[in-house]
Amino acid sequence: MNIRPRRNRRTAAIRGMVRETHMTTDNLIYPLFLVDGKGVKDEIKSLPGNFRWSLDKLLPEVEECMELGLRNFVMFPAVPEELKDKTATYSYAADNFYLKAAQTFKEKFPESTLISDVAMDPYSSDGHDGLVENGRILNDETLPILAKMSVAQAQAGFDVIAPSDMMDGRIGAIREALDEAGYTETAIMSYTAKYASAFYGPFRDALDSAPKAGDKKTYQMDPANRMEGLREAMLDEEEGADYMMVKPALNYLDVIALLKEHTTLPIAAYHVSGECAMLIAACQNGWLDFEQAMPETLLSIRRAGADVILTYFAKQYARVVQGLEIGL
Ligand code: PBG
Repeated sequence: MNIRPRRNRRTAAIRGMVRETHMTTDNLIYPLFLVDGKGVKDEIKSLPGNFRWSLDKLLPEVEECMELGLRNFVMFPAVPEELKDKTATYSYAADNFYLKAAQTFKEKFPESTLISDVAMDPYSSDGHDGLVENGRILNDETLPILAKMSVAQAQAGFDVIAPSDMMDGRIGAIREALDEAGYTETAIMSYTAKYASAFYGPFRDALDSAPKAGDKKTYQMDPANRMEGLREAMLDEEEGADYMMVKPALNYLDVIALLKEHTTLPIAAYHVSGECAMLIAACQNGWLDFEQAMPETLLSIRRAGADVILTYFAKQYARVVQGLEIGL
């Protein structure tokens, strides 16, 4: 035998030297759920270790993350039912607690990256990402609402706007509206290949944002499709996206790899709530070891081609990197 691959695995130093994939906290985005009010830190039952925070409680948590080297955050609002309506007007209302919180957040942490989600569902009385009429999700009528929401978010100080709605033409419509309002530096992270997945459950629990009727299959992609992801990618690139996202991540690693091969844009992958919940459940049962299974999971997503990963494990990963304890 003159070829023995095991020679390159012999010591930790050698393994480190030939390692192909590296990941630091720079590659992670931490999702945060915000509620109005004060003194709230309310655990999401289907996503243990994650909370709905009021801003006063959230800011110290963010400070802790920043000290751990975690600088990128995406924030989602849990909007009270009575503020929701058919056209998601609260999403750009002047007294919107989420927009006001973003302002405070960026004043306190100017060196952070703050990302917002754009879609109607957290603000919609129908619980859909677009405007609903007679059970149909209207495309073109939704675009101006998304554009208005995006401009309000840019104005509030979000660095990156992330449309998750999957309407056709929304990246172009949002880019145009942002530019017209003077926000040429606000970037767009498009949820490019977002699938109609069964793995968003805990997120919808957190925001109480599940569709009141029907499902999201007429706008989110069919889990059976790969090439359609590439078609969406080509459109997003033409329309001016700055990042492309694949969502979920683990069940769609092939799509991440496909998009990475066909674009020069950075690729983000959303390791979604249900994917994280599965691992937490197995570890809580003592069936898997979290300190080992969690970093391996994130590394796999990165190896597939993701430049950045949105994950509920971001803070725990940052602690592992620093050799700190992570309880479950
Ligand atoms: C809103 C949105 C969803 C997620 C991110 N943005 C839910 C959905 O599309 O129903 C899911 C994220 C997760 O499960 O962690 N459009």
